[in-house]
Amino acid sequence: MTDLIARLRAAVGDAHVLTEGDLAAYEQDWRKRMRGKALAVVRPASTQEVAAVVRACAEAGAPIVPQGGNTGMVVGSTPDASGREVVLSLKRMNQVRHIDPANMTVTADAGCVLQNLQEVTEAAGHLFPLSLAAEGSCTIGGNLATNAGGTQVLRYGNTRDLCLGLEVVTAQGEIWDGLSGLRKDNTGYDLRDLFIGSEGTLGVITGATMKLYPLPAATLTAWAAVPSLEAAVSLLGLAQQTLGASLTGFEVMGQFALSLVAKHYPQQRVPFLQETPFCVLLENADQESEAHARAQFERLLETALEQGLVTDAVVAENIAQARQLWHVRESIPLAQADEGLNIKHDISIPVSRIPQFCSETGALLTSHIPGVRLVNFGHLGDGNLHYNVQAPEGGDAAAFLSEREIEVNTLVYDQVQKFDGSISAEHGIGLLKAEKLPHHKSPVALGMMRAIKLALDPGNLLNPGRVLGSLR
Ligand code: FAD
Ligand code: MLT
Ligand code: ZN
Repeated sequence: MTDLIARLRAAVGDAHVLTEGDLAAYEQDWRKRMRGKALAVVRPASTQEVAAVVRACAEAGAPIVPQGGNTGMVVGSTPDASGREVVLSLKRMNQVRHIDPANMTVTADAGCVLQNLQEVTEAAGHLFPLSLAAEGSCTIGGNLATNAGGTQVLRYGNTRDLCLGLEVVTAQGEIWDGLSGLRKDNTGYDLRDLFIGSEGTLGVITGATMKLYPLPAATLTAWAAVPSLEAAVSLLGLAQQTLGASLTGFEVMGQFALSLVAKHYPQQRVPFLQETPFCVLLENADQESEAHARAQFERLLETALEQGLVTDAVVAENIAQARQLWHVRESIPLAQADEGLNIKHDISIPVSRIPQFCSETGALLTSHIPGVRLVNFGHLGDGNLHYNVQAPEGGDAAAFLSEREIEVNTLVYDQVQKFDGSISAEHGIGLLKAEKLPHHKSPVALGMMRAIKLALDPGNLLNPGRVLGSLR
C-alpha cells in the first residue's frame, strides 16, 4: 500500500493525502452511528485529479468511498473499520463553473456546497430551488448521489428532477462528459439517471448542470396548528387547490418533535406547542406580489379555520419571522441528535394513507414498548415522514438501539410494506439499510441493480457493500 499512497501523493500533492492526525470529520458519520478507519483521505482539486486517484486505486485494488459534505443519514460516505478504504473527498472541487441565463442552467463542481450554489445563482437573478437543513455543508455531488429531497420537492421535485447533465469519473478512471444542458435528449439509455441516486456505487460525480427557475416575487410562510393528521392531509388538499403551483412547502411536525426543539434550544419560540398534536408549516411562493400572496394565504387559512382543519395559525409578517419559523422546523434533526440516538425511519406512504399508517403503527409500537416516544415529522406534501422512534423517557438511548432496533425496524417496515410505501424516501440506503433492501425490493429489481453494478464496476471498488450489500 505504500506504492498506492505514493501514487496518490503524486496525483494530488502531498498536502492533500491525509493518513494521520484527527480524521474524525471524514471517518465518522453525521449521526454518529459508525466510526471507521480510512487507509487515506484524498482531496483532489480537479476532474483530472479524481480520474488519476480512481485509476491508482483501481490498479491497487483499493476500495473508494466518495464523500461530499458527509451529512448523509445512512452511513454511506464514511469508511468501514478495515483500514483498506480510501476516502475520496470532493470538497476542494467547489467552484460554480458557469451560469447560462438564456438556457436557465448552472454548471458546478460536485463539491460545491449547496448554500453557495443557491447564493451565487440568486445573485445572478435566478432561483436554484433545492433546499435542506444541511445546505450549509452538503454538496451538490452528494445531493445528486443520494437524489436528495428536502423542503421544496412539492413544487420543484427531487434533485434528479433538477439535473440536466453530469460529469462522472468511471470505476476505470475514465471521464464521462455528460454535462449537457439539454431538456430533450432521447439518444439511448439515460446514463445521467443511472448515476443519480447511486450513492457513490457506480461512479464519482465531478460536475453537474442543473436547472434554474425565476425568483418568486414574494415568498410567505405560515404556521398552523392542526387537530389531527387527517386534518393536515385535508389542509394539504385545500392548499393545493387554493395556491396551485405557488405552494412550495408543506411540512408537518408532531408535538414531541417540536418539544425537543423547545427543550434543546429554549431561545427558539415554538408556536402553539402546548395546544395541538401537530403543526404544519406552509410556504407560498408567488410570481405576482406580496399582497397577492398574503391575500391568498389569508383566504386559505380562513377557509381551513371554518372547516375545522386548523385551530390557529400565524402568517409571518416579514422575512425575519419566516426564517424563525423555518429555523424551528430545521432544528428538529439537531434537537433529536442532542436528545440521543434514535431509530430513524425515512419513509414514504401515499399521502391519503398516512393518518391510518400512523395510528396503526403508533399503537403497535406502544403495545410492544410502553412509553416509547415518536419523533414524527417530515415532508407531508411529498408523503414523506421521518418516523423516528426514541427510547422511553429516562431510558438509555444506546441500550435501546442495541436491544430494540431490529424489532422496531421490522415492525415499522412491515407496516410500510402493508401501506404500499418505501423504506427510503430521500436519504438512500447506504450501509445502514443495505441488509433491509432485499426484503423490500423484488428479486427482479435487485437482479437488474446487481447487473448494472457489475457492468459499471466489475471490481466492486466503488463504495462496496453500500446499497446492495455483498454481491456474492
Ligand atoms: P455525503 O454525506 O458526503 O455522501 C452521501 C452519499 O453520496 C454517500 O454514499 C457518498 O459516497 C455519496 N457521494 C457523495 N458525493 C459524491 C460524489 N461526488 N460522487 C458520487 N458519490 C458521492 N436529505 C434529504 O434528502 N432531505 C432533507 O431534507 C435532508 N435534511 C437533512 C438535514 C440535516 C440537518 C442533515 C445533517 C442531513 C439532511 N439530509 C437530508 C441528508 C443529507 O444532507 C443529504 O443526503 C445530502 O444530499 C448529502 O450530501 P453530502 O454532500 O453531505 O453527501
Ligand atoms: C429533514 O427533513 O429534516 C431531514 O431529512 C433530516 C432528518 O430526517 O433528520
Ligand atoms: Zn427530510
